[in-house]
Amino acid sequence: MAPSALLTSLEKEFSVDAKMLLAISREFIRQMEAGLLGQKSSLKMLPSFVGGPTGKERGAVIAVDFGGTNVRILRAELGAGGAVNIAAIDRFPLKDPNGKYDHTGANATAEHLFDCIAERIAKIAPEGKTYKLGHTFSFPCRQLSIDRAVLIHWTKEFKTPGVEGQEIGALLEAALKRRGLDRVVPAAIINDTVGTQLTAAFKDPEVDVGSICGTGHNTCYLEPKHPLGRPMIVNMESGNFDGLTHSKYDAILDKASDRPGAQKLEKMVAGYYLGRLMQTVLRTEARCFANDASAFEKCPVVEGRELDSMIADSGDFPATRAFLKDRLGITAPTSESVFLVQRLAKLLGKRAARLVAGSFAGTIQKIDPEITRRHVIAIDGSLYEKMPNYDANIREALHEMFGQKADRIETVLAKDGSGVGAAIAAAV
Ligand code: BGC
Repeated sequence: MAPSALLTSLEKEFSVDAKMLLAISREFIRQMEAGLLGQKSSLKMLPSFVGGPTGKERGAVIAVDFGGTNVRILRAELGAGGAVNIAAIDRFPLKDPNGKYDHTGANATAEHLFDCIAERIAKIAPEGKTYKLGHTFSFPCRQLSIDRAVLIHWTKEFKTPGVEGQEIGALLEAALKRRGLDRVVPAAIINDTVGTQLTAAFKDPEVDVGSICGTGHNTCYLEPKHPLGRPMIVNMESGNFDGLTHSKYDAILDKASDRPGAQKLEKMVAGYYLGRLMQTVLRTEARCFANDASAFEKCPVVEGRELDSMIADSGDFPATRAFLKDRLGITAPTSESVFLVQRLAKLLGKRAARLVAGSFAGTIQKIDPEITRRHVIAIDGSLYEKMPNYDANIREALHEMFGQKADRIETVLAKDGSGVGAAIAAAV
């Protein structure tokens, strides 16, 4: 296939028009309702046992934010008027960049993983004071109460044995005990989406949806009529939503993943997968690039910052040319190849934002079918924060679906929401 024909075919494979978006949002609502009633659904609809914050939460807390290969620990002070003062912050990788250790791999142990976290908590929590601990754990968990959650299964290609099926709070508590950390008392364990929503709702009570668009993807919302009898934030685990049409490249990526068939939406929209999806397309279609075919066959995983710079590229496409030269060793690409690679980056970024918008549309309509009032979706994550046009693409899709009413739906960045949210949840 000539590059121009490939481009036409990719545009078709990766575009999601307004009609498709509306169908996605309808199917999303249907699965939300089924999941809430405990019926078959790809949306897990997990209760969080947290409602909205009152804004009156106060005191010194430790927050652990564990959702990817970098863990963050915060010591925070909650003050009047929604003020959150972060007194200390520590970040560390669970996977050593030099390969010395990897707490996320198949050879790691749960004990080592949680000992490593307890060790860092000890450093940030001065002696002589007692702290409540809020723990953001950003994987699908069956929540038993605000401080008890069982990991259903790992996502984001984590493999640490001995954690799935276990109570996460108990694993951390045991590690704190081994470290003699009686001064730190676990009080809450929440998903990062819930943390993001809480952080934003702490300041603006009309925030009714929280989402992460980063390495992974997921959305939660405040369900006013929860079957458990009180309003409650529900972690939908929407990364697992399956009411979508796979392109042939999504199918290849899925097949090669740790859990084929799972996390269908996440694999189409999240940072961990987008660079791999671009790699999959370029490798699969390498033969279209004539003399450069063998270089495209070896295309590496495209990094997030490379994807971002290609999306923003214009003129003679210097960022795309730099990618082809530095990572594929192609020094004199044809202008057609450059254009195709740049367009592909844009198509993938745009599709990600539009699919997410389709799920937001369903969520808002589940709460307020006619969109009669203001809604705020608080979003954290590298894609939302850094990917060029991401928010604009979400907004455009909402407008295509709802016309003027889309103005009642605000999307806001809730930076560091997952960590701060754990602090608020501990104090709630
Ligand atoms: C996890 C969710 C999490 C999301 C964002 C997904 O892989 O299953 O629990 O909220 O990533 O971190």
